Amino acid sequence: MGSSPKDIVILISGGGSNMVAITNAAQKERWQDTLHARVACVISNKPGAEGLATAAGLGIATQVIDHKQFDSRDAFDAALQGAIDACQPTLVVLAGFMRILTPAFVAHYAGRLVNIHPSLLPAFPGLNTHQRAIDAGCKVAGATVHLVTADLDHGPILAQAVVPILAGDSANTLAARVLSQEHLIYPRAIRALLEQAAG
Ligand code: GAR
Repeated sequence: MGSSPKDIVILISGGGSNMVAITNAAQKERWQDTLHARVACVISNKPGAEGLATAAGLGIATQVIDHKQFDSRDAFDAALQGAIDACQPTLVVLAGFMRILTPAFVAHYAGRLVNIHPSLLPAFPGLNTHQRAIDAGCKVAGATVHLVTADLDHGPILAQAVVPILAGDSANTLAARVLSQEHLIYPRAIRALLEQAAG
């Protein structure tokens, strides 16, 4: 009683399996009752993102802000910010959102913008992480949940999971092993942030 709603906005560009993992955890762990929190909206920068249909099937409001319709990164980020702020979210969750965000956008959501990256940061920021880890001869790989700062893939680390790199691994087999761990650590890290949030 008396606590304000904690809405979560999730940004995706693709399949949205992390979005599903977060939504499933919210349902199973009854975040609405215990934390007054819910996934309020899923926004994609890609009209064809598979995760949009999945989110709609889960009863979540969806929206597309197609980056190709904008002349500049600033204009796209301003439109995205408008759509997000309409939800007044407690947390903005990047879940396979494959756009670099402007410093102004990141500053606007300081402390409530989180990302999951498929490597053990600070190793392998950027793209193609699994192949790069294999090529480097790493024996382990993993995923990192972190707060987003203007420095790409370098914000304060909230959670990590480690998996082995096995002989004969391809980028795809390693990605699948890492992804299954992402589905565990991301909902847990978000839940911890919600528990910390005032209200
Ligand atoms: C995940 O592996 C996530 O860590 C990665 O994209 C995948 C999205 O999968 N994110 C990045 O590479 C961000 N730079 P999903 O759409 O099934 O959640």
